[in-house]
Amino acid sequence: MVDAYLDFIEKINRKIGLDLSQYKRPQMERRITSLMKSCDCHNFNEYFVLLEKDKNQLNRFINHLTINVSEFYRNPAQWQVLQEKILPELLSKSPNLKIWSAGCSTGDEPYTVAMILSEIAPRGNHQIIAADLDQEVLRKAQEGIYHIKSVAGLPPQYVNKYFTRDGDAVQIVDTLKKMIKFKAHNLLKDPFESNVDLLICRNVVIYFTEEAKTALYRKFHQALKPHGILFIGSTEQIFQPQEIGFKSAAMFFYQKI
Ligand SMILES: C[S@@+](CC[C@H](N)C(=O)[O-])C[C@H]1O[C@@H](n2cnc3c(N)ncnc32)[C@H](O)[C@@H]1O
Repeated sequence: MVDAYLDFIEKINRKIGLDLSQYKRPQMERRITSLMKSCDCHNFNEYFVLLEKDKNQLNRFINHLTINVSEFYRNPAQWQVLQEKILPELLSKSPNLKIWSAGCSTGDEPYTVAMILSEIAPRGNHQIIAADLDQEVLRKAQEGIYHIKSVAGLPPQYVNKYFTRDGDAVQIVDTLKKMIKFKAHNLLKDPFESNVDLLICRNVVIYFTEEAKTALYRKFHQALKPHGILFIGSTEQIFQPQEIGFKSAAMFFYQKI
């Protein structure tokens, strides 16, 4: 008997190049089913027909599946480790850093790193690449306009210095925007960056299967410079990092050996 879910995700992969077989099935299936029901579709076939003919529904589908929650300075203790230990060590080897924020969502993460670098190494000629597969969040990231609530976790001096305020909205200043190059990139199929000093990939692989996750960490290892650092999310951990060629540099930070 045909597995309707597998059939659906195969058609989705052919249509938009997103291979959902590499994401954990229970979470994805639950999300897709709830979305499907909200459109009054009764099965995956009906839902695919709708996605074929209605671009808005397709965008809604991509947006819902990619789970874009982000935050400036998410998990502050880890950003402090980055600022006080990891970045100074990287900067002692190279004054100009190449940083890749993979799965950057609405830009909160690359903007946070840009603020920190502006504070601790303002004269460096740094390159920050911020990428995500979801075009909609990239558009928002490039616009750089957020609700005031989303900067609540940032140190107040950063808010004053790196945003302008307009009512309940705050906008990233141009100097910071210019430090970041945003681009569309699918971690499961597009070519990777190389010679990266710091690779930030947080709260992205939580939705991937174990195999997809391990394969990704191996590719991240290749993308990094020797001694480069991978910064992962607060619920994530690499078991046996030495098997991939990493050693722990601090909690949630792994260094390429
Ligand atoms: C929960 S957000 C994490 C945002 C940010 N890194 C953070 O921790 O605040 C996950 C992001 O991963 C992106 N994503 C999911 N699968 C991806 C893939 N295959 N390639 C690139 N980005 C992906 C989603 O579009 C989403 O914006």
